[in-house]
Amino acid sequence: MKVFIVYCHPSEDSFTRNVRDSFIKGIVDSGNEYVISDLYKMNFRTDMSEKEYLRDSNYSTEPGLESDVLAEQEKINSADAIAFIYPVFWTEAPAKLVGWFDRVWSYGFAYGNKTMKVLDKAIILCTAGKNTEYLEELGLLGSMKKVMLGDRLYNRVKESDFVVFGGMSKALKLRHTNWDKYLKIAYRKGYTL
Ligand SMILES: Cc1cc2nc3c(=O)[nH]c(=O)nc-3n(C[C@H](O)[C@H](O)[C@H](O)COP(=O)(O)O)c2cc1C
Repeated sequence: MKVFIVYCHPSEDSFTRNVRDSFIKGIVDSGNEYVISDLYKMNFRTDMSEKEYLRDSNYSTEPGLESDVLAEQEKINSADAIAFIYPVFWTEAPAKLVGWFDRVWSYGFAYGNKTMKVLDKAIILCTAGKNTEYLEELGLLGSMKKVMLGDRLYNRVKESDFVVFGGMSKALKLRHTNWDKYLKIAYRKGYTL
């Protein structure tokens, strides 16, 4: 199995980076392969240009998508599974990942007469400052899942898994308690993908 990882965190000095590394170790140890797009490192442009907006909003399939978008689409269509790894920012993915969807999920690829492959699996590994029970109680976890699974991934994948590593704020002691336990889960998710 080939896994395409879309990773989005502005700093290597982060728990999310450790989640990424444990997940990758699991993939490699299980004998599977991966490719990764590290959106901040790539300096991936996430603002839609006017040309891109007009193409998508007019449901146009004209060629001429930018090469960075085509490269991401090629990574998707060459993979069997996709993984998204990011921290929760204001009950969403970081703006950089949201913008990646705006540009890469283009008309004629992800919607309309789609050329996007239906992937076997998708996994979302996100880290959150607040604990998971609190996010659930306020309906915020439901919102995050709805947007990622019910809209962006929807029928573009056969199976999906949404994992939240909550309580990881630097202000919480819980961050240290959870650290190793969560990284084991991330490893296992990579190993059993
Ligand atoms: C701009 C910003 C917005 C955030 N918004 C949320 C939020 O809405 N909900 C939440 O639980 N945590 C939020 N957090 C906390 C991050 O999710 C948390 O810092 C991160 O998961 C901890 O892992 P890290 O060491 O990888 O950054 C936010 C953090 C930042 C910097």
